[in-house]
Amino acid sequence: MSKQRLRLVVGNWKMHGRLAGNATFLEAVARGAAALPGSVQVGLCVPCPYLAQVQSLLEGSRVEWGVQDISAHVQGAYTGEVAAEMAVEFGSSFAIVGHSERRAYHRESVALVALKTERALAAGLTPIVCVGETLEERDAGLTQQIVGSQLGEVLAKLSVEAAARIVVAYEPVWAIGTGKSATAGQAQEVHAFLRKLLAEKGALVANVPLLYGGSVKPENARELFLQADIDGGLIGGASLKEQEFLAICKAADISGVE
Ligand code: 13P
Repeated sequence: MSKQRLRLVVGNWKMHGRLAGNATFLEAVARGAAALPGSVQVGLCVPCPYLAQVQSLLEGSRVEWGVQDISAHVQGAYTGEVAAEMAVEFGSSFAIVGHSERRAYHRESVALVALKTERALAAGLTPIVCVGETLEERDAGLTQQIVGSQLGEVLAKLSVEAAARIVVAYEPVWAIGTGKSATAGQAQEVHAFLRKLLAEKGALVANVPLLYGGSVKPENARELFLQADIDGGLIGGASLKEQEFLAICKAADISGVE
């Protein structure tokens, strides 16, 4: 029998949430996740002020949690920033780094994203490194060049052992929050390219989980998750509604299909 591939589904709340609504959501997701098979791993990346609430409501559940960004520094005079170690103190497992919204609105460079990845790893977090091209870049035939340089800069900084501990998320900028997902074929094509880059770093790195993000919904999740190089999803809008998020997590159970 072939070893079953794991699937990872991570919600990215972005700047959404309020204490009262979060509580209902988190309790429902913890209950729903309990029914998922062990092959499906679930995570939620929330705004930092909610980490304590998330920790108290998800501790002991099947759902892990984390943050949407971290500082490249350990500590110091960096007003407004949050250190990876602070996220760890609240039980975080994940830190998203290099989300396209941070690259676009906060001018995060590939070099800074690589530093943040190193910091996350040093603190014991799993960095979810986001890469993705804009529509103009895709139309100009630059997709591989863009995602290749975004991932390449990160891999170049890491040892093989460290690189084996990252997660990569392909999020085409044109598919984020637009309702227009990449087709399963378009996503798979880029994932296969990213897989090749990972494998070139070393055999240990070849199986790093590759998530797809960008308008994933219950309706399109399964087809995406069935692709050879898609190991799960990074979910924005649909991670705000418990029924939708759980339906996407259920779609990641592809036992019986593989
Ligand atoms: P949407 O699922 O809302 O398109 O967002 C994707 C995303 O940016 C997740 O990080």
